[in-house]
Amino acid sequence: MVVLVLPVFFGCTGNASTVKSDDDVEKRVESLLSEMTLDEKIGQMSQVDPGVFGGLENLKKVVRNGQLGSVLNLIGAKEVNELQRVAIEESRLGIPLIIGRDVIHGYRTIFPIPLGMAASWNEDLVRESAAIAAKEAASMGINWTFAPMIDVSRDPRWGRIAESAGEDPLLNSMVARAMVQGYQGDDLSDPLTIAACAKHFVGYGAAEGGRDYNTTVISDLQLHNVYLPPFKEAVKAGAATVMTAFNEINGIPASGHKHNIRDILKNEYGFDGFVVSDWASIQEMISHGFARDLKHAGELGLAAGIDMEMASRSYNDYLKELLDEGKVDMEWVDDAVARILRIKFRLGLFDNPYVDESLADSLLVNVEHLKVARKLAEESVVLLKNENQVLPLKKGTKVALIGPMANQPYEQLGTWIFDGDENDSQTVLEAFNAFNGDNNVFFAEGLEYSRDKSTKGFAEVERAIAQSEVVVAVVGEEAILSGEAKSLAELDFVGAQGELLKLAASKGKPVVMIVMSGRPAGLFKTQHLAKSILYAWHPGTMAGPALANLVFGETVPVGKLPVTFPKGEGQVPIYYAHKMTGRPADASTWTHIDEIPVQAVQHSLGNTSHTLDYGFTPLYPFGYGLSYTSFEYSDINISAKSLSIGESLKVSATITNTGDVEGAETVQLYTRDLVGSYTRPVRELKDYQRVTLSPGESKEVVFELNSDQLGFYFPDGEFVVEPGDFHVWIAPNAAEGLRAEFELQ
Ligand code: BGC
Repeated sequence: MVVLVLPVFFGCTGNASTVKSDDDVEKRVESLLSEMTLDEKIGQMSQVDPGVFGGLENLKKVVRNGQLGSVLNLIGAKEVNELQRVAIEESRLGIPLIIGRDVIHGYRTIFPIPLGMAASWNEDLVRESAAIAAKEAASMGINWTFAPMIDVSRDPRWGRIAESAGEDPLLNSMVARAMVQGYQGDDLSDPLTIAACAKHFVGYGAAEGGRDYNTTVISDLQLHNVYLPPFKEAVKAGAATVMTAFNEINGIPASGHKHNIRDILKNEYGFDGFVVSDWASIQEMISHGFARDLKHAGELGLAAGIDMEMASRSYNDYLKELLDEGKVDMEWVDDAVARILRIKFRLGLFDNPYVDESLADSLLVNVEHLKVARKLAEESVVLLKNENQVLPLKKGTKVALIGPMANQPYEQLGTWIFDGDENDSQTVLEAFNAFNGDNNVFFAEGLEYSRDKSTKGFAEVERAIAQSEVVVAVVGEEAILSGEAKSLAELDFVGAQGELLKLAASKGKPVVMIVMSGRPAGLFKTQHLAKSILYAWHPGTMAGPALANLVFGETVPVGKLPVTFPKGEGQVPIYYAHKMTGRPADASTWTHIDEIPVQAVQHSLGNTSHTLDYGFTPLYPFGYGLSYTSFEYSDINISAKSLSIGESLKVSATITNTGDVEGAETVQLYTRDLVGSYTRPVRELKDYQRVTLSPGESKEVVFELNSDQLGFYFPDGEFVVEPGDFHVWIAPNAAEGLRAEFELQ
């Protein structure tokens, strides 16, 4: 029997504070709309970059004529006020501009890249970081950030994996919620909150071959169960705007996808904010081979439901003509403008259009912001390996600090840091000197930058190692190697970093590897060279203090991987929530390529789903991360062996700290639906909780699991909870854990 459950309706009420004034806002929108000329309406639907548009003076002209709704990348509170004054005081209707900017992981205070933030699994901290980013950005006149990026990403070759929360829909949904709430706060009209933009709608992370902007082929089953849920969550959290993506999906560009934008996002999810295109993504439908020319692209963009066009000018140049010819509806234009005005009203821009130019002084990179940046950087670091408990080091240990990322104030910030300043950065070298005493730190980079292939600095590295007890090698990739259009075909460390690590390991002293990177990569051929590995992503402004605290045990690692680590690019895509297949991989049927007998008979080795060289397991599974202590999982308990639809049950387990120091563990809840009308993944993350335990202490961790969490979307988007047998795990990561069974009736 199949039981249909109506999808949870998230409504269009936005956040609590806008609910109060919704009626008022709607009245003001309606009355303003009724006064607007068609030119003014089309103006509201256009967004330009001053640099590309020919500078501030050119902008003023169109703003004065009421022919522009938004500007992106206008820098400086004074400049914003100057342009805003033209909009308010010199345009016919005085409609304020909305000023957008990519504030992706901090404005001036740079937090870890979003993939790193996700590794903290700490919703409160992620929310706090976004609230800080909002304050700093708002003080510079920015009203709107193009974040969060919530594209489920399962391919480390894709440079933009750095901007996402990784491979899992639930974790991306957590980041979606936390960031939307952080940027927007409880009150969008507060001068220190800004509008969020959930992007890129939708499926951008599935780019074929990990090459940016590439084609995606996504089944409806995957679209609804993997790629859409974070957007649904962002809408539920009250996201003011959504950005469409560059990619095509199954033959239709995401920016011309009427079904996804109008039917799913606007109608089904009840999204009442506005949709902005990505940079020229309407125009790019020509290149996709979907639109004949710019006019046709504009027609398709509006028909699909894009309310504001970023960068390209199809709306500006052709909407009038398209309306005259009856190719687009006036109703669509009015709806688009109403949505844009609604957000401007909610932001309080009509009542309070100018930014206080003195705010930035006290806000940018203040001590409180740096504290949160350090904390989030600490929690984003994942301890992947710690043989012989090499970490933490004792204060005063003689350390050879090597590697091209150890003292790179710019590179540690990562991608998308338009407004970050490397002069604010605290590097690992600075922090080690401060904490451990500079007479105990022997610094030799070895390589000047990550891609450096010259080994001329290696002699100095040898000298540093000779004076030390331990080697700390800070390796990885420069900021420019991840992010937009920064895809890679190979996942090994770039430059001569492999050789540097080999040299370090050859000296008989323990090597601690710290990796600063925008993607999960680089370890398969090098990890054996290190006793300990701290995977730090690009940690941001406070990389140094955060890593010094971790290395010297002032704080204990808590990060867990938000994405599976492949052994190499040939194993991509590899993710924990895969399907079972008809011939599931099985250790007893895998023979490593070097062990296969010469002239073995075709079927003599068994036929299961693996590769001869890498087998079938990843290098590190999703959810994985060690601590300086150890945790034992025992006594899984389930409150009932069966539950009915509409009910919930409790699943619990005892977690014990079996080591010598206090530590925190992120305990994960996974389920598997054994038989479905459509096959279900081998595991799906349903919930998680962090528990802090003193040495020897045990705690029972209890999860409530309700029947709704066991449902899934059918390809037509219908949410269905199917009765049947389930497995449930309480687990330290996606590959281990304690299992119980129950039935959903
Ligand atoms: C990116 C977006 C970004 C926009 C504006 C585009 O190239 O894909 O994520 O928000 O530029 O800078």
